[in-house]
Amino acid sequence: MRSLKAILPAVFAFSCCVAQAQVKSGDAKMNAFVNTLMGKMTLDEKIGQLNLVTSGRATTGAVVNNGVEAAIKKGEIGGIFGLYGAEKVGKAQDIAVKNSRLHIPLIFGLDVIHGHETIFPIPLGISATWDLDLIEQSAHTAAKEATAEGLNWVFSPMVDIARDPRWGRISEGSGEDPWYGSQVAKAMVRGYQGSSMKNSDAVMACVKHFALYGGAEAGREYNTVDMSLIKMYQDYLPPYKAAVDAGAGSFMSSFNTINGVPATANQWLLTDVLRKQWGFNGFVVSDYTAVNELTNHGLGDLQTVSALALKAGLDMDMVGEGFLSTLKKSLKEGKVSQSEIDLACRRVLEAKYKLGLFDNPYKSIDPAREKLDVLSDDNRKFARKIAEHSFVLLKNKAQTLPLKKSGTIALIGPLADNHSEMLGTWVIAGDPNKSVSVRQGIKNVVGNDVNVLYARGSDITDDSLLSARSYFFGMKQVKDGRPAQQMIDEAVETAKKADVVVAVVGESANMSGESSSRSDISIPESQRDLLKALAKTGKPLVIVLFNGRPLTLTWEDEHASAILDAWAPGTEAGNAIADVLFGNYNPAGRITATFPRSVGQIPIYYNHKNTGRPFNVGDNAKFKSDYLDISNDPLYSFGYGLSYTTFNYGEVKLNKARLKGNETLTATVTVTNTGNYAGEEVVQLYISDPVASISRSVKELKGFQKISLQPGEKKSVVFTITTKDLKFYNNQLKYDWEPGQFVVQIGASSADTRSAAVEWNK
Ligand code: NOJ
Repeated sequence: MRSLKAILPAVFAFSCCVAQAQVKSGDAKMNAFVNTLMGKMTLDEKIGQLNLVTSGRATTGAVVNNGVEAAIKKGEIGGIFGLYGAEKVGKAQDIAVKNSRLHIPLIFGLDVIHGHETIFPIPLGISATWDLDLIEQSAHTAAKEATAEGLNWVFSPMVDIARDPRWGRISEGSGEDPWYGSQVAKAMVRGYQGSSMKNSDAVMACVKHFALYGGAEAGREYNTVDMSLIKMYQDYLPPYKAAVDAGAGSFMSSFNTINGVPATANQWLLTDVLRKQWGFNGFVVSDYTAVNELTNHGLGDLQTVSALALKAGLDMDMVGEGFLSTLKKSLKEGKVSQSEIDLACRRVLEAKYKLGLFDNPYKSIDPAREKLDVLSDDNRKFARKIAEHSFVLLKNKAQTLPLKKSGTIALIGPLADNHSEMLGTWVIAGDPNKSVSVRQGIKNVVGNDVNVLYARGSDITDDSLLSARSYFFGMKQVKDGRPAQQMIDEAVETAKKADVVVAVVGESANMSGESSSRSDISIPESQRDLLKALAKTGKPLVIVLFNGRPLTLTWEDEHASAILDAWAPGTEAGNAIADVLFGNYNPAGRITATFPRSVGQIPIYYNHKNTGRPFNVGDNAKFKSDYLDISNDPLYSFGYGLSYTTFNYGEVKLNKARLKGNETLTATVTVTNTGNYAGEEVVQLYISDPVASISRSVKELKGFQKISLQPGEKKSVVFTITTKDLKFYNNQLKYDWEPGQFVVQIGASSADTRSAAVEWNK
C-alpha cells in the first residue's frame, strides 16, 4: 500500500501553515487554537466560514466549478457538500489548504442517510429491526465508507417524529414514538461519530430537521407546524435532545414554521432550547436555501432574513449565500454584531477542530482504504443481515410462509425484477447496478430447486401525475409498453401454472422521501388491479411489499395469504428477501409507525389521549369519539409484527404492589416459543398513568428486549422501572412524575399487552 505521504504531499505541507503548533484535544487547547486563528481572520474570511456550497453541477473536468474554486481561494467557503471520492475531495481540499490565505480546511458533507455506497434499508425499515446494536453498526459502516471517500460530515440522523404517513419523509425517520426514536437517535450518533470524531473512520453527525418537521399539517411537505408546548416536549422533541446528549456535533434547522416562527430564524428554538436548555455546543446549519426561504415565509428581504437567522443562532447557511452576500452590510448598518458573526465562525472552526481537520485536513482521504472499505464483502453481508432484520411479517395465513424449497412459484410484479427501486429514497452514492433484484436473489438462494416463472404483471403506476411527480432530475418510470390487461392476463396465466404466487409490489423509491407526500397511500392502482386478478386464481398469494411509509392495506390484508413488508431494503434486497421467503431467516421486524385502515384516520398513533368519550372496540353507542364509517383502531398497530413461530406471554409479575420515592420496580414476564421455528421476539414495555394533573397518553413505550427462543424454549424477561420512566411534562412544562397508580403493560405490540397495576407514592 502506498503511504498517504506519497499520495498526498499537501497533507504534510499543510503543517507549515495554520497548524504549526501541535493541536491536541481539550477545550482549552481548542479555544486557544481557534482564538489565534480568528485573530488572523478578516471579516470576509469569517463570513466565508459560514457558507456551505455544493460543488456546482456544471462541472466540466474540474472537481468543483470555476466559481466555487475561486471562492475557496478567497476564503469565502467553509464547506462543500455533494462531492465524494478520495481523489476529488483531496483535490478540493488542496485548493483550500494550499491556495487560501489562511489555509483553513473545508468540511465535506453529504446526505449519507442509510448507507453510503452499500445501501441499507431506509431508516423506517432500519428502525423496524428494534436492534440498537445493528442500528449503530449501520451508521458506523456508512461512516467507514463515507470517510474512505473523503467525507467527514453526514446529514443524518433524521430524528423527526412522524404520525402522518402521507408525509413522504416518514421513510427517513424512526417512526412515531419519542422514546424509541430517542434510542435510535443515540445509536446513530454513536455509530457515526465513534469514540472520537478525530478517528479516521468517524464522521460528524448532523441531526435533522430541527425541529418538528414531521408535524407538517396535512402531511404536506414543508408545511406549517403548529403545536402545543406540551406536545412538543413530550412527543416531538425527545429524539433531538437524545442526540445532543449523545454528543452530536451539528444540527440542521428545518424548513417549517413552528407556531408562526420559521425554525431557521427561531431564536427560542436554536438558542434557548437547543443551547441553553440542552447544552448543545456544536454548530447549526440551515437546510437547503432555508435562509432565503424565510422571505417566502414573510419575514423580509434576504438581508433582513439572513440577519434574523444569524441572530437566532444559525451558524452556517446551506447553498443560498444569504450570509455571504449580506452579513457584511448588516454589520455596517448595525443589524448584526461582530460578536454574533464571530460566534458562528467560532462554532464552525470548532467543528473542524473536533474532526481533527487542523491536524490533518486529509485525515480520511485514502484511495487505498476507498478500495478496501467501500462495498466490501463484509459490508454487503451486513446489508443483507440488517435488511432481513428490518422485514415485518404483516400477515401469514395458515403458515403460507416460509415457502418450500421445491415446486413452482410464480414471481410477479413490476418490482420483482428491478434493481433500482429497492434502494429507496436518498441514495446519492449507491449504484443500482450493484444491487440484487428479488428475482436474482431467489435464484441465488434456491438455485434450481425451485422452478421460478416470472411475469411483470403491471407497470408501477399508470397514473400519469403520480408517475411524473415521483420521478425527477430527468428520470422516468421504465414502462413495459404493453397494454395493462395484456400484462395482467400473462401474469394470471403464469400464476395458474404455479403452486404459489409471490407478488412483489408497492411504491417506487421516490414515492416517499423529500417532496413526496401522497394523499392516497394505497398500492398504486395498476398494481392493485394486478393483485385482484391474481387473488381470483385461488392460488396462495404472497405479497412482498416495497414501501417508504405505512400504506393502507385493508384489501391486501383481507385477500392475500401472506404479506412481508420489505420497505426499500437496499443493495442486498433480493438476497435478503429470498432468505426470509424460504425460511433461512425467521422475520422479527416490528413496525414503528402505525398502519391506518384509511387516510381518513390520519394522524393515527398508539400513544394518543383517551378523550372524554373514549370509544371501546365493539361498542356501538352514539356520542363516542369515533367515526360513523370506520373503526378507530388501525390495521396494524405500533410494535406489531409476526414470526414464523408463535410466542405465548405469561402474566406480568411485579416485585412490589406499592412503592415509595426512588425505589425500583421490576416487572417480569415469561415468554414461550410455542411454534415450530426458532425465532426472535421483541418484548415491549408500556406504562400508563391513568390519573394525573393533565390528560396523559393511553400508554407510552418505556423499554423493550429482543430475545431469541428455540421451539419450546421459555425465558423470563425482566424490566427494571424507575421513577425516570414515570416522568412527563406537566402544564408548567415541568418534567416530573406524579404519585398514584401506574399500569405496567408488557406484550408483543402496543395493541397486545397484559398488565399489572402498581401504586407509587412520593
Ligand atoms: C434538503 C433536505 O431537507 C435535507 O434533509 C438534506 O440534508 C439537504 N437538502 C441537503 O441535501
